[in-house]
Amino acid sequence: MFVQQPIAILDSGVGGLTVAREVMRQLPRERIVYFGDTARAPYGPRDPEEVTRFTREIVDYLIQFRPKMIVIACNTATAFALEDIRARVNIPVVGVIKPGARAAIGRTLTGCIGVIGTEGTINSGAYEDALREISPHVHVISEACPLFVPLVEKGNFRSFETYEAIRRSIGHLRKFPMDSLILGCTHYPFLAEVIQEVIGPNINLISSAEETAREVSTILQDQERMSRGEVLPVHQFFCSGDPKLFKSIAQQWLGEQIELTPVVWQVP
Ligand code: SIN
Repeated sequence: MFVQQPIAILDSGVGGLTVAREVMRQLPRERIVYFGDTARAPYGPRDPEEVTRFTREIVDYLIQFRPKMIVIACNTATAFALEDIRARVNIPVVGVIKPGARAAIGRTLTGCIGVIGTEGTINSGAYEDALREISPHVHVISEACPLFVPLVEKGNFRSFETYEAIRRSIGHLRKFPMDSLILGCTHYPFLAEVIQEVIGPNINLISSAEETAREVSTILQDQERMSRGEVLPVHQFFCSGDPKLFKSIAQQWLGEQIELTPVVWQVP
């Protein structure tokens, strides 16, 4: 009964596309319904109650498509709303923080790991908790980078302004003996080239996208809910802000044309 149902993926904006692309790559038969809340991004500076309310509203919207699983492809929403959403729906709900932490622990040799994310994610301490749950003695260096999400939402991935914002925000992290840096916001892989340039070539950049898609795959296999269709799925995308900008970023990142429906929120 579940085989044709889609996987719902949500984010504050375009960042969750980094997870969607990886789900498409690892699970090409799965249909995705994606919601980017671009009208209300960034979520990082908002308080936990507001982020939880926004996440609930998106889930309530996506539930009309009868998804077999929900992926909260936003670190801030994962930090604040994952448990709330899990308690509200009776399908699996996957976040991006534990998969990101697992991926970093799998890569580090020095046991010193950096985490960059929004103010909300960093102040929540969710990455430290997730990392220490796996490896209690890991040394974690965290830094909030509030300038990054607005740059990505504008499609500003490689300009001088972007380079300067990244240099000012994380240049000082070079002095720490870390060997891995978690991109603790799903928007940051869009900036990966410049982040790598600033932080140096010897640091592994860890994005949670791959590991999250792997978790999605494991759950679907365990529950025997994998799609078996022969025809490639047609994904659907929704955004609450500027549709032209979302479409252009999405098509550039995914390397394919997308079907996009703008959504006008009735709520402030
Ligand atoms: C944001 O929109 O501020 C958050 C995106 C993320 O945390 O992944």
